[in-house]
Amino acid sequence: MEHEEIMNVVMVGHVDHGKSTVIGRLMADANALPEGKLELIRENCRRNSKPFEYAFLLDALKNEQAQGITIDTARCFFRTEKRRYILIDAPGHIEFLKNMVTGASRAEAAMLVIDASRGVEENTRRHGYFLSMLGIRQVAVLINKMDLADYRQSVFRDIQEEYSEFLEKIHIRPRAFLPVSGYEGDNIAGRSPRMPWYRGLTVLEQLDAFEALLPPSQQALRMPVQGVYKFTHAGDNRRIIAGTVETGGLKAGDAVVFYPSGKKTSVKTLERFNDDSQRPFECGEAAGFTMTDQIYVKRGELLCRQEETPPRTGVRLKANLFWLGKAPLEKGKHYLLKCGTAQVDMTLQQVDRVVNASDLSCFTRQRVERHEVAECILRLDSPMAFDLAGGAAATSRFVIVDNYEIAGGGIIMDCLAAEDYDAKNIRWAASSTGASERSALHGHPGMIVWMTGLSGSGKTTIADLAEQQLIAAGVSAYVLDGDKLRRGLNRDLGFSTPEREENIRRAAEVASLFEDAGTVTLVTLISPYERSRKLARSLSRRRFLEVYVKAGLNACRRRDPKGLYRKADQGLIRDFTGVDSPYEVPADPDLVLDTELWNEELCAETLVNFILSQLKK
Ligand code: ADX
Repeated sequence: MEHEEIMNVVMVGHVDHGKSTVIGRLMADANALPEGKLELIRENCRRNSKPFEYAFLLDALKNEQAQGITIDTARCFFRTEKRRYILIDAPGHIEFLKNMVTGASRAEAAMLVIDASRGVEENTRRHGYFLSMLGIRQVAVLINKMDLADYRQSVFRDIQEEYSEFLEKIHIRPRAFLPVSGYEGDNIAGRSPRMPWYRGLTVLEQLDAFEALLPPSQQALRMPVQGVYKFTHAGDNRRIIAGTVETGGLKAGDAVVFYPSGKKTSVKTLERFNDDSQRPFECGEAAGFTMTDQIYVKRGELLCRQEETPPRTGVRLKANLFWLGKAPLEKGKHYLLKCGTAQVDMTLQQVDRVVNASDLSCFTRQRVERHEVAECILRLDSPMAFDLAGGAAATSRFVIVDNYEIAGGGIIMDCLAAEDYDAKNIRWAASSTGASERSALHGHPGMIVWMTGLSGSGKTTIADLAEQQLIAAGVSAYVLDGDKLRRGLNRDLGFSTPEREENIRRAAEVASLFEDAGTVTLVTLISPYERSRKLARSLSRRRFLEVYVKAGLNACRRRDPKGLYRKADQGLIRDFTGVDSPYEVPADPDLVLDTELWNEELCAETLVNFILSQLKK
């Protein structure tokens, strides 16, 4: 079945400016009224000796709707040849703002009504702000009651000029200004003969001229990862990534990428309960799939397709939010922000503007009270992937949780650069010419993270995960892996004590150069001797963190990922650490990651947080 296009259009304006009359007239002239409605109301008016008004139509329709279902705002439905419309009559009241800002309702376009006989008033400006808060980009301005201004072009022009200037300041570029009279029906559904100077569209034509958003199925794939399920029974080692396809679609073979980690893979199989059909997942469906690579992803990441528009990732958001909390939103307090399936700790960094939801008046103060709408800058504790207003609802809207209760909701308007990693904020002892410039370029200084531990303790796995997470956080990170160095630079070295010492010395020298180049360098080497590790520390130019990746010999033997312990036990390998070569446990490491107690993900997260905290020092 072909999907019929529906467009939501918000009607904004003061009642006195004739908004209801415009809507009533539009409904009548577009033949959108129920059979006999118009006549019935005319008849009622006559009986009560009241002059008929198109505005009454709207009230009559509202009453009718109210009998059916509970509605949050007054909505009128009608259709043109092009598509169906839902006109949302937007009062400046709290419930409406709440629904719009928190995402319960959405609109693609807006019409703003101004009274030609009164011109631009404080109220009209507030309505402009209101639209900019909602993130509605397509706006048409109807200059109404042109009949009261004798249909003069100069009146229309003056208002258009003054209001355009104002809208420009709040970054709204209106599609058009239309001179209309709701009362007389000029330029509503038909062209007015009384304003021959106007060659633009009628209200009805303008509605059809608004561009509809792409239907969700045609937008880029967005699937927030709900969970990762491992199957470990009887040789089944599938890892299934599960979530809901919010927009776009997903099929086997798709090249995908997870954000914010940026990890790439492709879809191997689609997983449905009791269904092996491999039929593609459509938007709205709960989906599960396996990957061609064994990469680690976790709940909260956003799955996208590699060739499609990527989401934004970052830690500083410009957002418009509606506050519901009993306690105000304030600086210095920690909140939880949820967007898609991501849950991130956040703080309020700045309030740009607060709007009182009942009268739409604006002011500035660094706190947001209950029932206020505000433009704010929010700071996240870790990177998150999201879309901006106008993108998929699930990924461009968020809620804020304060003390286990939803205390606010909002729309993400922009992604700002993270200023914390700014080199100016980081003390940096320059160690070579250009070091501070390089540091400024990266946004942070270099550092050596020396990871020591038995073979099979998990050094490389944790370092690789940490590297990806650091990169996602905007940190230039690189893993110098012992095995890799031994394949190239150190391929002349074996495992005798002097050879190991030389192996470690060379690795430390290289790490030191990387550090100087401004890279956070994660070195993964067994480095069994305390003396060698001390030497490595002494070669660091700025900051050296010794991380002990701890796992007992028995655990490493059990894991034996490369089968080397088995070979050592069989005597096929000599001088194997832990078997016939010693490992000196670090006496005073900067951090211990116990891989027998914590899984690799948790270890990586701990390591990343530790590194980030050290970078800021
Ligand atoms: S170190 O002792 O000199 O620091 P390094 O970390 O570079 O060792 O190399 C250890 C890696 O080499 C192990 O992960 C393992 O894959 C491999 N290897 C091969 N032979 C040995 C051995 N005799 N002892 C330890 N590791 C070995």
